Amino acid sequence: MNKLSDCIINKNSSMIPVWFMRQAGRYLPEFREIRKNNQNFINLCLNTKLVTEITIQPINRFDLDAAIIFSDILMIPYGLGQLVEFKKGEGPTLGILNLDRIIDNEPKEFVKKMKPVYESIGAVKKKTKDKSIIGFVGAPWTLLVYMLNKKSPKNDFDLNIILKDKSLTNKLLKKIEDTICLHIDKQIEAGADVIQIFDSWAGLLPKNHLEKYCYSPTLNIVNHIKKTKVPAICFPRGIGKNYLDFSETVKPHCISIDYEIDPKWAKKNLKEIPIQGGLDPQILLKDRENIKKEVENYLNIFSGHPYIFNLGHGVLPETKPETIEYVTNIVRNKK
Ligand code: CP3
Repeated sequence: MNKLSDCIINKNSSMIPVWFMRQAGRYLPEFREIRKNNQNFINLCLNTKLVTEITIQPINRFDLDAAIIFSDILMIPYGLGQLVEFKKGEGPTLGILNLDRIIDNEPKEFVKKMKPVYESIGAVKKKTKDKSIIGFVGAPWTLLVYMLNKKSPKNDFDLNIILKDKSLTNKLLKKIEDTICLHIDKQIEAGADVIQIFDSWAGLLPKNHLEKYCYSPTLNIVNHIKKTKVPAICFPRGIGKNYLDFSETVKPHCISIDYEIDPKWAKKNLKEIPIQGGLDPQILLKDRENIKKEVENYLNIFSGHPYIFNLGHGVLPETKPETIEYVTNIVRNKK
């Protein structure tokens, strides 16, 4: 069994697996080189040869314990027929939402469109020994936000776009859930050993809406995954102390904490469950002495608890590749 599964499934705390969210991406010159010649991001995500190569780039460099398939959570809206574009410096933009067209989208059609994603998982698996292959999806809430807001909600979001038309929201949410389950099944069939569920915008929800839009739809996904042998890692970013409620309600195999969570609080309160991540990606922009201190702080706090080293969000594009190597070595040398 690979290290990541051993930590999550057997709750083995004697070794600390390490990987990084967004480990394949813009901070790596070899990725930028490929990206330069592939301006259309969706097409890049559908190019089996390049996806395989990009996914393996950080493994070749740093010998990490897991390869996360190079793709995007917005491949689901794309696969359902909504236009998705990534314009330079702007982040993603989505096209108009035609509910009928989305609801009528046949699972067979979706799978056909996503075939290169599944083929890439198979190819990565063949090329990497003893590494975990991480498949992933966006959580229903985060996908609902992108599909209705049509861009990142970072600077511009009004909860009323979700609440104003309950019937549309409920129908869309159901279709999103079904499609997520299908996409997960196919990734597992192709060889994914672990599934991570990114709820990047869970923190936008006021407490009284968390149950309906975050916990309950995610629980449906996690229960679906539990029919297989593959474990699920949940990342409900930005929900603060509600991480406890989330863990007790959704009961994923592993929980990924963001950088706003006090790691001591997490260890004390999320007792039963393997924990991943936490370190603020900004720390990796500091000098080595500070980086070492902060990394060791997480390693010391989670000593004796099944813990996967990772960040509290994705690697920032400004990060030096040598820093990822430096951090990986600190984790590896931890006694
Ligand atoms: O290495 C990995 O982690 C795998 C690849 C991966 C990407 N996106 C590639 C990508 C993963 C796991 C994602 C998930 C994703 N995508 C999330 C959840 C994680 C998070 O960051 O909260 C979200 C919200 C998205 C949506 C998305 N895709 C945004 C907001 C952006 C643009 C802004 C940004 O952070 O780059 C993307 C584009 C994207 N997805 C890039 C990459 C490498 C950058 C594309 C480029 O311009 O080169």
